Amino acid sequence: MGNGWSGRRVAIVEGCRTPFARANTVFRGLSAIDLGTLAVRELLFRAALDPNEVDELVYGTVVHSVTAPNIAREVLLGAGLPATVPAFTVSRACASANQAITSAADTIARGYADVVIAGGAESLTDIPILVSRSMRDRLVRASRAKTLGGRIKAFAGLRPKEFVPMTPAIAEPSTGETMGQSAERMAKENGISREEQDRWALRSHRLAAEGTADGRLTREIVPVYLPPAYAEMIDRDNGIRTDTSMEKLAALPPVFDRKYGTVTAGNASPLTDGASALLLMSEEKAKGLGYEPLGYIRSYAYAALSPKKQLLQGPAYAAPIALERAGVEMSDIELWEIHEAFAAQVLSNLQALDSDRFAREELGRARKVGLIDEDRINVMGGSIAVGHPFGATGGRLTVTLLNEMKRRGLGLGLITVCAAGAMGFAMVVERE
Ligand SMILES: CC(C)(COP(=O)(O)OP(=O)(O)OC[C@H]1O[C@@H](n2cnc3c(N)ncnc32)[C@H](O)[C@@H]1OP(=O)(O)O)[C@@H](O)C(=O)NCCC(=O)NCCS
Repeated sequence: MGNGWSGRRVAIVEGCRTPFARANTVFRGLSAIDLGTLAVRELLFRAALDPNEVDELVYGTVVHSVTAPNIAREVLLGAGLPATVPAFTVSRACASANQAITSAADTIARGYADVVIAGGAESLTDIPILVSRSMRDRLVRASRAKTLGGRIKAFAGLRPKEFVPMTPAIAEPSTGETMGQSAERMAKENGISREEQDRWALRSHRLAAEGTADGRLTREIVPVYLPPAYAEMIDRDNGIRTDTSMEKLAALPPVFDRKYGTVTAGNASPLTDGASALLLMSEEKAKGLGYEPLGYIRSYAYAALSPKKQLLQGPAYAAPIALERAGVEMSDIELWEIHEAFAAQVLSNLQALDSDRFAREELGRARKVGLIDEDRINVMGGSIAVGHPFGATGGRLTVTLLNEMKRRGLGLGLITVCAAGAMGFAMVVERE
């Protein structure tokens, strides 16, 4: 075990996920709770685990349900786990499932639990739509009024604009900048061209299509029967475009800066629905129950910068800390899963990690962190093609990486995720 990890070694025993589906497509009839429940049920089934062995469930989500804000507890009950098992929900933007995994790992390392289920779910189809603040005040006043006249009076002077609903925005509350605008700013400041972004997006689709065709990606997927008829079954991600090309990508208009921009629907991750679930145990417990773990957590790190700086650059700050805590160098990493919020963000992160100047000025390091071969990064594509259900992605990255490390017989892997609020996550995993 490397330095920086105190406590018991934590094994990742099994993991799976639902297909990832573009928002407002096939999962229209399913909530985040439904998707999470399906993933956790399948996890228990795949691991052939007695539900009574589970000590806790931790789940990540970003856009919380107003009526069921602790999604973890509902997923636990829905999946048929004992009601006596506690469950809590965590939220760290796009690193929410990573937060669930590391919170679960910390509880195990400390000896407070032996078996914890972690993961996350998101439905960007089933989002809460809120009324305007003044409309809310009127509705509250009307509900409190004792007479019909009082109720009618609550709506006196109602203006049309009060009917305009509020939807969750993918914008920074502190700066008002959307993720897409930040990606656009990063592309400009780092000199990432449209062509480079489109090439990364194309690579993502091609590799994801290959991983789907040969079954490596589908191996981690829980087939889902669609309500209400349960006649149609979905067993693959529906955002992967087998027919895309540099020409088609080049033809798409920029979305976030229509005049001078380079970020398009093609080189951004799409809004997505989906869920993931992982089974974590202490090493002793996993071995005691006869499991051969997929891998172990060697170290992790979270980092943050000002949202006014390069918002999605967090991985370049978190990765060196995780590597140092693991006692390894970037050159020791054999396989890497980078969350692809935008191609401009991935390429900016890679550029920063490979820059002596960034190392000196931003990290206070003498030399750059370095990179591994591009051929060993996101070898089955990434979030641009596979999709990005905010709360679930961290679980997918972990499962995808460990399954592929097992197939290739590799020892060390790295996961990085950028998150809203200008945060970054990195985790080093190992296999024996
Ligand atoms: C970028 C974004 C606004 C695009 O949304 P959208 O317009 O609904 O996207 P669509 O899927 O409808 O794509 C738009 C068009 O591009 C086309 N397109 C998208 N990707 C393509 C590809 N790889 N190849 C060819 N065409 C593609 C679509 O077919 C569609 O064409 P159509 O209008 O003729 O149907 C949306 O995906 C978004 O907000 N993404 C970022 C999410 C985000 O900020 N996440 C947080 C990061 S962590």
